[in-house]
Amino acid sequence: MNILPVSACSQNKKYQPNFKSCIKIYNPKNVTSLDIFAKDKVRTSSCPFRSDQDWNDFMRYIFWNFAGEDKVNISSLACADGSEPLSYALYLYDKTPKSYYGKFYITASDIDSEMIKVAKSGRINLSNGDFKNIEKYIKNPQRYFTDYGKPIKITNNVDEERYSYKIDSEVHSLIKFKKSDILTEVKKMNPDEYYILNIKNVFPYLKENYINEVLETMSKKLKSGSIFVYGKYDLLVSNFKNRLFNLGFFEPKQGECFVQKI
Ligand SMILES: C[S@@+](CC[C@H](N)C(=O)[O-])C[C@H]1O[C@@H](n2cnc3c(N)ncnc32)[C@H](O)[C@@H]1O
Repeated sequence: MNILPVSACSQNKKYQPNFKSCIKIYNPKNVTSLDIFAKDKVRTSSCPFRSDQDWNDFMRYIFWNFAGEDKVNISSLACADGSEPLSYALYLYDKTPKSYYGKFYITASDIDSEMIKVAKSGRINLSNGDFKNIEKYIKNPQRYFTDYGKPIKITNNVDEERYSYKIDSEVHSLIKFKKSDILTEVKKMNPDEYYILNIKNVFPYLKENYINEVLETMSKKLKSGSIFVYGKYDLLVSNFKNRLFNLGFFEPKQGECFVQKI
């Protein structure tokens, strides 16, 4: 496990370190200075089935909420190495028949080209701790990952204790990746379709006016009944939940990091 000093984890002092073994920290390339608050120190920490949600509980709600619908978009913005959309793809593929999971369209993007290249590659760096985490939701997760040996090289990656795995190609093919920034993708959402919009653990990096524009645009674009999923770190942004309530969202399950459009 790689334990980082607090100072290395936080230029923005509010941002607390994550001591999980899956942490990755690197300086992103080609990131526009306009929207990144701490542009030299953006962290891409991610892992499948990140603990912001109890995924069984959360997915039960998703299945119930969208039971009668033919098409639901799962959009994962600021997806880093793709661990987050992979959690959806794995969960749906493992637990539901194709006739059911076929109605969920998973797209994912990140502003950093290197992260998107990794996400698109169909490989992922995973530690033993990551596997234990996946096992909470997926029995024998090794079925979906083939040992690939050396970790994928990521610029300024501080975590060298992981191995890389090839993700089952059918599972990986459920996700469409592209390089893009959050606001561009939020503006492009179709107001006539349902979304599970994930923008997780990135808001503390963003400038206030950018945050406002993202929140206001998504509140206009998201159809009633759509879900917005944030991360625990996003609660560091001042008044984050109240801002969501004021923009027309309610919390169907208290304490879990998601809200729903009224
Ligand atoms: C801490 S990671 C979060 C990963 C994942 N959402 C999760 O919660 O596990 C933050 C990611 O946000 C990306 N990012 C930062 N600003 C962005 C922007 N304006 N648009 C899209 N991605 C951005 C970074 O490149 C980084 O990969």
